[in-house]
Amino acid sequence: MNSTSGTALRRNERLAPLRVNGARLWQSLMELAQIGATPKGGVRRLALTDLDGKGRDLVVRWLREAHADVEIDGAGNVFATRAGRNAGAPVVLTGSHVDTQPSGGKFDGNYGVLAGLEVLRTLNDAGITTEKPVGVAIWTNEEGSRFVPVMGGSGAFAGVFTLEHLLAQRDVDGVTFGEALRRVGYEGDKPVGGRALDAYFEAHIEQGPILEREDKVVGVVNGALGLRWYDCVWTGQDAHAGPTPMEARHDALRGAARMVEAVNALAARFAPEGRGTVGFMQVQPNSRNVIPGLVKMTVDLRHPDDAALAAMDGELRVAATAIARDLSLECDLQQVDHFPASRFDASCIGAVRAATEALGYPHREMVSGAGHDAIYIARVAPTAMIFVPCRDGISHNETEDARPEHLEAGANVLLHAMLARAQGR
Ligand code: GLV
Ligand code: MN
Ligand code: MN
Repeated sequence: MNSTSGTALRRNERLAPLRVNGARLWQSLMELAQIGATPKGGVRRLALTDLDGKGRDLVVRWLREAHADVEIDGAGNVFATRAGRNAGAPVVLTGSHVDTQPSGGKFDGNYGVLAGLEVLRTLNDAGITTEKPVGVAIWTNEEGSRFVPVMGGSGAFAGVFTLEHLLAQRDVDGVTFGEALRRVGYEGDKPVGGRALDAYFEAHIEQGPILEREDKVVGVVNGALGLRWYDCVWTGQDAHAGPTPMEARHDALRGAARMVEAVNALAARFAPEGRGTVGFMQVQPNSRNVIPGLVKMTVDLRHPDDAALAAMDGELRVAATAIARDLSLECDLQQVDHFPASRFDASCIGAVRAATEALGYPHREMVSGAGHDAIYIARVAPTAMIFVPCRDGISHNETEDARPEHLEAGANVLLHAMLARAQGR
């Protein structure tokens, strides 16, 4: 045996029994979930609200207590770095987000960040100094619920859009991303992007039913489907609900209602992988006895094949035009966000697969049906994801749930995939 492989073997022997502390990970998840806790056991911590600020403060405190050096960039992205032996080496990064949906769960995003924290704590407990630095990121506004674009912080980091564009986006009340960022005290002084990353791994609950259905513990995620988001405004005419004859109406809500059906029907035509959702609607003037004159709605289309997603886009536009003509309404349909289907890095997927197999967890390869910061980070660094099951595949819901032993397993995979990169194995 030559000396190099001898050193590698000794390192492997030392690292093989290393495991995260699942109880500590669970405890941290439950503690973070208290901030913005909802009556049904979920979390409401919309991006850059005071509650999001409090959640970030808690996690940043924990990261500092784990001896990480914390930096914040101009998009509010947090980077907590644990020094390696080779200070100049690019960072092996993990992370996710701590903002939630309006009626979100305890695990979406929070798990990825706290699994990263647990990796740092585990390395500290074991007294391990890695060769390369390892780090944990908290990306800003992943959910896209308060501000579009979705995956805002990671998108700006990856140069998908400019920081100026991100900071100028407004929520439904007209507050800009930049104003909200300053208010919560997370407008950092570090440049957005340009950080040297050796690799990026993100652990996340699956948010779908496949792992649970197949009794698998880990999803080795090799890519993600594409997404297009639209804002759609229907304009008709407000009028009295009593005197206005049915044939004389310009009811904007009828246009929106038909559009909801059209979106669902077109997604069904692209089954089994097509998805179409209308999740947001504002009706004006929203009065019982006034025919609605204006409706604002959103459309979310997804498909793992870009050509199919483009065809869905074409069908959506045809449907909007036909409905508007039929009901004598105006329809303004604007695409406001888009990312194509993506494929993760073969070597990082391999590191996740190798760690999963070495740890003996039942697993399968899969494509993510949800958007994740990893999709944008994959454009600037070798990237892969780790999924664990969630109960009944339900997510973006207060009842979102996951088993502690599955969360622990995913964090163990994360630990060993990161170590494989950080130790240069
Ligand atoms: C992010 O949560 C998404 O919409 O997939
Ligand atoms: Mn998420
Ligand atoms: Mn989400």
